[in-house]
Amino acid sequence: MIVHKQKSVGVMVLGLTLLAGGCIPSAQVAGEKEPPGADIHPLYLPPSPDTIPGDLRGEDIRMGYLMVVETQQYGKRYVGNSLNCTNCHLDAGLHPQALSFVGVSVLYPEYRARAGRRMNLVDQINDCFERNMNGTALPPDSTRLSAIVAYIEWLSKNVPPGSAVPWRGLPPITPVRDPDVVNGKAVYEKKCVFCHGVDGQGTMAVPPLWGPRSYTIGSDMARVSVAASFIKANMPRGRGWSITDEEAFDVAAYINSQPRPDFPKKVYDWPKGGKPADAPY
Ligand code: HEC
Ligand code: HEC
Repeated sequence: MIVHKQKSVGVMVLGLTLLAGGCIPSAQVAGEKEPPGADIHPLYLPPSPDTIPGDLRGEDIRMGYLMVVETQQYGKRYVGNSLNCTNCHLDAGLHPQALSFVGVSVLYPEYRARAGRRMNLVDQINDCFERNMNGTALPPDSTRLSAIVAYIEWLSKNVPPGSAVPWRGLPPITPVRDPDVVNGKAVYEKKCVFCHGVDGQGTMAVPPLWGPRSYTIGSDMARVSVAASFIKANMPRGRGWSITDEEAFDVAAYINSQPRPDFPKKVYDWPKGGKPADAPY
């Protein structure tokens, strides 16, 4: 399947060590639908390593990669929780079913209802620092910020401007009933606790799912539909597509019913309307 081939190209590009084998749907449940997006990858062409220039720009790209993978270390000053960008943008943004960075730079600037204005790539990156890393925006002249932009632009270089970037975001799943938090807790205890811990706080190699070191309520991941799509395609890590849609929704609702950091700037969100029904505020 093309997904695997492309992902392993991406993985080789950066020499990543995958924790548990990435997105290969080895345990796909009989009768479940084929992972959406299995057929959308002819344009999914992350560049090969020999195209990282050996000049200053190449250094920038490498620093951007480190910011994404080791945000705790390289972006320390701007981070307020235990996450690294790559915990959600899996495989350093190279995973086609986990909020990939490949191709996205060609889509900006873009209007966002949540902000009520057009955003450029820099705004979006800083948005993730604030909402998902519970941190602060990097100053506009920061070289670390331009390094992340350089990295995403480099990953996008084979995607022509005007392209639709069909793998963007997460493969959506649709709820068939209201999520059941009680069942979500049972799913959590059966399928997630082993890595993320009884208290949801993760371990050295596994990020927390709630509590003061997790994403804020201003994160899109705090919406049940978004978390459910992420979980369905990618969790348990290395065994995406192995749980049912109901289990994904239930466990997402359970995780997002737990305490997490507030996002005081939430009062400015959706100034012109358009708030999704599952926004937590
Ligand atoms: C808790 C999960 C999470 C973490 C951690 C996270 N993000 Fe995101 N990011 C998201 C989600 C969900 C979206 C899409 C929705 C949105 O705009 O909020 C997104 C969107 C983006 C986009 C836009 C993608 C597109 O398709 O246009 C970029 C760029 C981005 N994030 C960069 C980063 C960077 C850089 C970091 C680390 C500093 C980071 N993110 C950390 C969840 C996360
Ligand atoms: C085999 C270990 C393992 C299991 C089991 C597992 N996860 Fe994860 N999970 C991870 C790792 C590791 C990451 C970070 C991925 C990375 O950095 O590559 C992660 C990331 C996440 C994230 C995004 C980052 C964050 O901390 O918010 C969510 C949400 C998540 N897992 C939910 C779940 C749910 C729900 C289950 C059960 C259905 C589950 N996971 C089962 C290892 C696991």
